[in-house]
Amino acid sequence: MFKLAAETEDDWWEVEALYDLCFAPGREALSSYRLRDDISPVPHLSMAARDPEGILAGAIRYWPVRIGDLSVLLLGPVAVHPTHQGEGLGGFLIRESLEVARDLGWERAMLVGDAPYYNRFGFEKLNGVIMPPPTNPERVLGYELIKGAWGGITGEVNRVA
Ligand SMILES: CC(C)(COP(=O)(O)OP(=O)(O)OC[C@H]1O[C@@H](n2cnc3c(N)ncnc32)[C@H](O)[C@@H]1OP(=O)(O)O)[C@@H](O)C(=O)NCCC(=O)NCCS
Repeated sequence: MFKLAAETEDDWWEVEALYDLCFAPGREALSSYRLRDDISPVPHLSMAARDPEGILAGAIRYWPVRIGDLSVLLLGPVAVHPTHQGEGLGGFLIRESLEVARDLGWERAMLVGDAPYYNRFGFEKLNGVIMPPPTNPERVLGYELIKGAWGGITGEVNRVA
C-alpha cells in the first residue's frame, strides 16, 4: 500500500511539514537537534513513504553522530501522518531503514524515544550513553546492527563536525 523510497532534495520541505504536523510545536528546540544543526542526514537511509496517490504518509531520517571516535547512527525524527497511524507504517519505516543501515555497514543505531514503542524493534536502554541535556536517560535507546556493537560503549554523544 505504501511505496518507500530514499528521501530526495525535493521531498525535504514536505517531510518538514509532516514533522511539524506530527510533533509538538518547538520540536527543533529539542537537544537532539543540536546534534543535527548544519549537518546533512545520512544519504540513502532517510526515507519517505507515499500512498498510491503519491501523498506523503510517513518519513524517517537518520543523522551521523559520534561517541568518542565511534560512528553512531541517530534515528529520527520518524513520523506517520495521523490518518495513517496504527497501520504498521512506523514499524515498516524503522525495520526497512535499519536493514539498509546494516547493508551499508553501520554497526549501531540510537535514538531518544519511548521505550514501550521501540522495544518491539529490539531497541534497549543505553546505560552510560549521554545525550546533550536536557534528555531523560530512560529515553536513550540503542540498537545493534551487528551483535555486540553497543557492548562496553559509554560516553557523551557529540556532533560529527
Ligand atoms: C510513533 C509513530 C511514528 C508510530 O507510527 P505508527 O505507524 O502509528 O506505528 P505502528 O503502526 O508501526 O505501530 C502502532 C503501535 O505502536 C503503538 N505506539 C505508537 N506510539 C507509541 C508510543 N509513543 N509509545 C508506545 N506505543 C506506541 C501503538 O499504540 C500501536 O500499538 P499496537 O500495535 O499494540 O496497537 C507515530 O505514531 C507518530 O508519528 N507519532 C507522532 C510523532 C512521534 O511521536 N514520533 C516518534 C518520536 S520518538
